[in-house]
Amino acid sequence: MEAWYMDESPEDQRLPHQKSPNQPVSLDKFADIGVLYWHLNPEDYENVWVLFLQDLLDLCPEKVENYEEKLKNFFREHIHVYEEIRYCLEGSGYFDVRDNDDRWIRIWIKEGDMIVLPAGIYHRFTLDKGNYIKLMRLFVGELVWTCYNRPQEDHPARVGYIKNFVDDNKKGVSC
Ligand SMILES: [Fe+2]
Repeated sequence: MEAWYMDESPEDQRLPHQKSPNQPVSLDKFADIGVLYWHLNPEDYENVWVLFLQDLLDLCPEKVENYEEKLKNFFREHIHVYEEIRYCLEGSGYFDVRDNDDRWIRIWIKEGDMIVLPAGIYHRFTLDKGNYIKLMRLFVGELVWTCYNRPQEDHPARVGYIKNFVDDNKKGVSC
């Protein structure tokens, strides 16, 4: 897994969009915004994830109807009521998340990477130029992946996120 701050270029969303020079983002920064990350052996996944409800998303132009349309939808900035838990079995792709100053961080996940985005964080997803990812979607409760597109400042999930990760971090700085 690698992560960096994104440039502002309107070019193809599947390009890396690194700044020049590149500004990498460390795992410490992830803790500030509530994002969790693990790297696990994909060959063990069937045994590890029995506690979660799960489904598989196989994304590539040959296997998915309305591929371009789907790609655009995943790339719309949104939040969820629950955590978004994704495990990459094959291929690669980009999760973009907003930091506490509303800047985009691009997280490049590959085979074996597992990522948890907290409820209420603004984010989006795209494939990269490899045009293929097999993603396991994990759910702790119900199989729900409803998206609430930005703006959602009054949504309880967003209000909860701000309280837990933005306001608390600001308090930490001033103490
Ligand atoms: Fe999402």
